[in-house]
Amino acid sequence: MSISIQQVQHSRLSGIDFNNLPFGKICSDHMFVMDYVDGAWQEGKIVPLSNFSIHPANLTLHYGQSIFEGMKASIHNDGTPLLFRLDKHVERINASADRMCMPQISSETFCNAIETLVDLDKGWIPPTDGSALYIRPYMFATDEFIGVRPSETYKFVIFTCPVGPYYAAPVSLLAAEKYVRACDGGVGEAKTAGNYAASLYPAKEAKEKGYDQVMWMDPVEFKYIQEVGTMNIFFIMDGKAYTPDLNGAILKGITRDSVITILKEKGVEIVEAPLSKDQVLAAHREGKLQEVFGTGTAAVVSYVNKIAFGETIIDLDPDNYILGPYLKNYIADLRSGDREDNHGWVQRVLDKATVPV
Ligand code: COI
Repeated sequence: MSISIQQVQHSRLSGIDFNNLPFGKICSDHMFVMDYVDGAWQEGKIVPLSNFSIHPANLTLHYGQSIFEGMKASIHNDGTPLLFRLDKHVERINASADRMCMPQISSETFCNAIETLVDLDKGWIPPTDGSALYIRPYMFATDEFIGVRPSETYKFVIFTCPVGPYYAAPVSLLAAEKYVRACDGGVGEAKTAGNYAASLYPAKEAKEKGYDQVMWMDPVEFKYIQEVGTMNIFFIMDGKAYTPDLNGAILKGITRDSVITILKEKGVEIVEAPLSKDQVLAAHREGKLQEVFGTGTAAVVSYVNKIAFGETIIDLDPDNYILGPYLKNYIADLRSGDREDNHGWVQRVLDKATVPV
């Protein structure tokens, strides 16, 4: 697939302070855009970042047929851009597309678009520790029609943002007791916009009570832990790592998968199974709850310092964590090239963007 490239006349890069990067507010110079029309993806283009014009009857605006991915590019010590587990993101966007009745994207198209865009905007990859170029591929319905049915046309877009850490400090969690994120047979596993929209009101209530995030529980008994607003969740109890199993209601986190592999290789026993609040509370009472952290592309590995299950509050001290920092450093070292990539997770982006002079 050939990608036509139209470059910006004047880059905004020189105005960016890499030491002061809010998450998700600054976009780099270019974006990739590709339309799905007449049952086929048309030629993809890289163009200067710009607004779309949207018809008032656009299907996505009304019925939310929209999916996305989140990934990161980092810079190797030798200056080469690196991508992390690109293949897994292709797999996941296509699983989301399937669930939301949207067209598949070939691995070749997806990878080529990301590699070309990252190569073109590689100057935007922050070299600072804990920062990265966040890559946001997404697809949305573009039919202009009021009626509930799958769209016949779509737009697939990729843009990138230089970002600092998503959570600058450890996070506190309020276990859900009333609202749910996902149930069996729902869309919990799909990375679709509505899952995040539905989380806003409960998250607002949690904030008003002094907590950073909601910890989602099962929708029937509010007994089993699912995940946190923007992350999968791990509990280290009595030396073992517990994380809720992928039961269709939980996002199939790529960082989650990497963390499980890294921990197994370190000899840590992993328990991927339904995880009840009673197990966590018992471990806490017995002094066996050692660490709690979330994992995600944006969050990487983010420590939890407090969890409220109703009136019962668990306080944790991330300063004493051992596995959390080990994982965080492990992933950071892979992203800088300081650690050998034994798993084939990291891919170099070699000159892809041939730009007309
Ligand atoms: C990610 O971790 O990439 C996500 O999509 C979460 C989002 C809230 C930034």
